[in-house]
Amino acid sequence: MTQQQQTEHTHNRKDAVFLKALRGEAVPYTPVWLMRQAGRYMKEYRDVRNKISFHGLCSDPDLVAEVTVTAVEKIRADAAILFSDILLIIESLGFGLEYHEGTGPVILGELKDKAAVDRLPEIEPNESLAYVFEGVRTTRQALRHELPLIGFSGAPFTLASYILEGGTSRSFLKTKQFMYNDPGAWHALMEKIVRGIVKYLNGQIEAGVDAVQLFDSWIGCLDPASYREFVQPHTQAVFEGITQGIPTIHFGTGTTAFLEDFRDAGGDVIGVDFRVPLDEAWQRIGHNKGIQGNLDPSWLFSSQDKLLKQTKVILDQAGQRPGYVFNLGHGVLPHTPVENVQALVEAVHTYTKR
Ligand code: CP3
Repeated sequence: MTQQQQTEHTHNRKDAVFLKALRGEAVPYTPVWLMRQAGRYMKEYRDVRNKISFHGLCSDPDLVAEVTVTAVEKIRADAAILFSDILLIIESLGFGLEYHEGTGPVILGELKDKAAVDRLPEIEPNESLAYVFEGVRTTRQALRHELPLIGFSGAPFTLASYILEGGTSRSFLKTKQFMYNDPGAWHALMEKIVRGIVKYLNGQIEAGVDAVQLFDSWIGCLDPASYREFVQPHTQAVFEGITQGIPTIHFGTGTTAFLEDFRDAGGDVIGVDFRVPLDEAWQRIGHNKGIQGNLDPSWLFSSQDKLLKQTKVILDQAGQRPGYVFNLGHGVLPHTPVENVQALVEAVHTYTKR
């Protein structure tokens, strides 16, 4: 037996603490990973980015693997998340995608009515996103055998909002106008996106990811009734289409007003932001489901004393119940001191050791 085979033999990745938590099983300590754990706050990442554009980086399987592995090892998280971006899939619908330093992403192209939606091509990830699947395979090979790899996609609403707004937005007015004024076109758009997401996530699973997360980052701009009518059935269709047996995480921000509906859309574990106390959120979600969250990423800019105190508040709210994954309430911010991220991960492990 080679040493690699030996490790594979003794460590079954299915028994990784992170995957156990996603399945609601007992764990020896609380697993932790951080959204945007690979990013500009990390010098190694900035060094790579100085040589290549963000888009170029996402398209290069070797660099994707390098950035993914470097981040998880440097902060000693319990899972790696594939280095990629939720917006890449939008190109498969025929829109242009540009990342501008400072102002954020720009989506080029117009969508006026139902006829325009019908003219959009079907998303075929095996063709347009093959480089992501190659990135999964390369990353899986570069990653320590026992470390789980998380795949992901944007959720239908968040992706549709980027298309209709042409980028990030404050009011989401264009999205809401489209949705309220032309519900037929809206639902047709969502259905087309859903078909693409399902193929995309199942392709990532086939390429080797161990769990998937759906990011509905901007869903909190909707009122609860609109969520139920215009979004929930579509998100539900995504979860119903994902290959059975792979644990799923459903993350959203601003979901406090409709957390039960958000939960009902699907996901084994619900990711919550920092605007709701974790214990209250879990009560509403129900302890038969898992939860992920929810430290405000801004705490990472405080002294370690304050950071760890706030972390313990959240860990105490989770109370060693099975089905908990520690994370931030949203992604790591640029300029976050990396030593605070490392201290955070270590503190979660030590404080929760059973
Ligand atoms: O979490 C990880 O470490 C994996 C990589 C990852 C990125 N984006 C890298 C990235 C993941 C999972 C995402 C998801 C993503 N992308 C989301 C959902 C998560 C969230 O934050 O709500 C969203 C909304 C996007 C869209 C997106 N991509 C925006 C708004 C931006 C620009 C914002 C900014 O901070 O400049 C991106 C670019 C992006 N995606 C960067 C990174 C590290 C920064 C690009 C750079 O290096 O310049």
